[in-house]
Amino acid sequence: MELLRFITCGSVDDGKSTLIGRLLYESKLLYADHLAALEADSRRVGTRGGELDFALLVDGLAAEREQGITIDVAYRFFATEARRFIVADTPGHEQYTRNMVTGASTADAAVLLLDARKGVLSQTRRHARIVSLLGIRHVALAVNKLDLAGYSRELFDEVSASFAEFAADLEFAEITCVPMAATEGVNVVGRSELTPWYDGPTLLQWLESVTPSTRRDVSSRLSEARRDETSRFLVQWVNRPDATFRGLSGRVLGGTLRRDETVRLGNRTTSVARIVTMDGDLDEAPAGSSVTVVLADDVDASRGDVLGAASDPPSLADSFQARLVWLHENGLLPGRQYLAKIGARTVGFTATKALGINEIGVDNVHFDAPVPFESYRTNRDLGSFVVLDRLSNATVGAGMIDFALSPSNVRWQTLTVDKQARIARNGHRPCVVWLTGLSGAGKSTIADLAEKALHAEGRHTFLLDGDNVRHGLNSDLGFTDADRVENIRRIAEVAALMVDAGLIVLVSFISPFRAERALARELVGENEFCEVFVDTPLAVAEQRDPKGLYRKARRGELANFTGIDSPYEPPVEPEVRLDTTTLSAQAAADAVVARLRALGVC
Ligand code: ADX
Repeated sequence: MELLRFITCGSVDDGKSTLIGRLLYESKLLYADHLAALEADSRRVGTRGGELDFALLVDGLAAEREQGITIDVAYRFFATEARRFIVADTPGHEQYTRNMVTGASTADAAVLLLDARKGVLSQTRRHARIVSLLGIRHVALAVNKLDLAGYSRELFDEVSASFAEFAADLEFAEITCVPMAATEGVNVVGRSELTPWYDGPTLLQWLESVTPSTRRDVSSRLSEARRDETSRFLVQWVNRPDATFRGLSGRVLGGTLRRDETVRLGNRTTSVARIVTMDGDLDEAPAGSSVTVVLADDVDASRGDVLGAASDPPSLADSFQARLVWLHENGLLPGRQYLAKIGARTVGFTATKALGINEIGVDNVHFDAPVPFESYRTNRDLGSFVVLDRLSNATVGAGMIDFALSPSNVRWQTLTVDKQARIARNGHRPCVVWLTGLSGAGKSTIADLAEKALHAEGRHTFLLDGDNVRHGLNSDLGFTDADRVENIRRIAEVAALMVDAGLIVLVSFISPFRAERALARELVGENEFCEVFVDTPLAVAEQRDPKGLYRKARRGELANFTGIDSPYEPPVEPEVRLDTTTLSAQAAADAVVARLRALGVC
């Protein structure tokens, strides 16, 4: 029997628990003990005067699952005579957008629930946008709680029209609006006398009849519609138990992979010799199956590669137009380095536009290595990625590829006079000495004294100072988070160039964010990077206030001032920590030089 996966969106207040509870109940798939418990609970704590309170059912299951493992999305199974269903029940609060994305990414249809009396709220609009973004084309708008509005046809029409107007450009194939009172069971399963003016389907009738359509983007599972598509096979690992067998284990993510099919992997063409499974060899493996493929030739392959029909081989690219959903309270910052997980690969990721939590946008994104991909429309698995924070590894965003941007024609040029040649000439190794700390901490004074000492010893040095660089190279940047990210990104690049030039580079910037300091370390290389935390407590820096800026900031004349209304993230493990409340500037500078000696730089 056919399976429909759908997602419900809306908040608990809109009646979501009641609706799901009622669907489970009506489909008679409740266990007898659940039912007995529901009856008892309804009498005891129900809000329905002793009648069955379906919200308790779902909330009861929720409590049960909380005792076990914590999961963010609950998948519930039920069936009617016409169909089997899996409903992804996701929490309705603002901060749970991530769970919604998880639930929606495998769904064929969505039920958007709202309270008729409140109409279309910003949450409804955001959910609808995400549903659209994730490629769901069939939507039912459950206009709930009509019982509390006298089953008003006018209200229903008004809410339906306002949603249709908003959703006009969301690319839905179909929007069905159902007037509902979930607590009363009105139009959930059976048609109700209370809405004689409505002649559309009840919610369950809609769920039973909606066609997940023949669109190409129903990947991850078996589907007749995909059988004729071009085959795509994701290599998850190279299976080499002994010298006689070499297979590629992974998943068919599109089309049907066939024995003897001519396929392309990277820049080699070969054919499928065998399709191996635990239960013997197959002639063909449809989308969704996990198999081991033996190729006719010994072609190089590794995890994350995608093999596909030679007539329409998978392409690789590193820059894309993508739709992004941002899921973390720390917004997306243009130019900041994140990680993206796509297919079976994890690569560096940057975007060009800022997004706040729960925001959705179209952006140009860049991966630091080419990856096999498809547009999200064609293949959900190869067309979507999640964005991770580099330091915490937390999921901060999700993205869907629209198309690849034209590949860059820039190539790396190899030069004859290299860093080694410069080291030989200079008689010392290059290094970045990265001083970070609050404004007024003493960074520039210490950096200046340290450079003076190194210069006197005949070392080749350069001092990059925030205030100075902001007069020229970075004169276009201010002090928003995004501008600081770009400020430090550029300085990290300049410092890396100067290391290639053989210099000891002293960098004196507040550089308030760990992420960009980590980026600098990565660009320059661990062995040539020395992070110096000029540790001056805010109260002390503010007391010194050499430029009078803290006073201005406190008076509200200077916005986004570090330590006042803009954050500073202190280093966790700096190479050097200078406590300026006990050290003189000269002693601090001496400590920096001593450290460079210990590192063998000078
Ligand atoms: S960073 O945060 O982007 O690294 P940077 O070191 O370049 O800052 O510049 C800091 C200097 O700019 C401070 O020493 C101070 O003189 C000046 N400044 C002006 N406005 C601000 C502000 N809002 N926050 C911090 N510094 C500011």
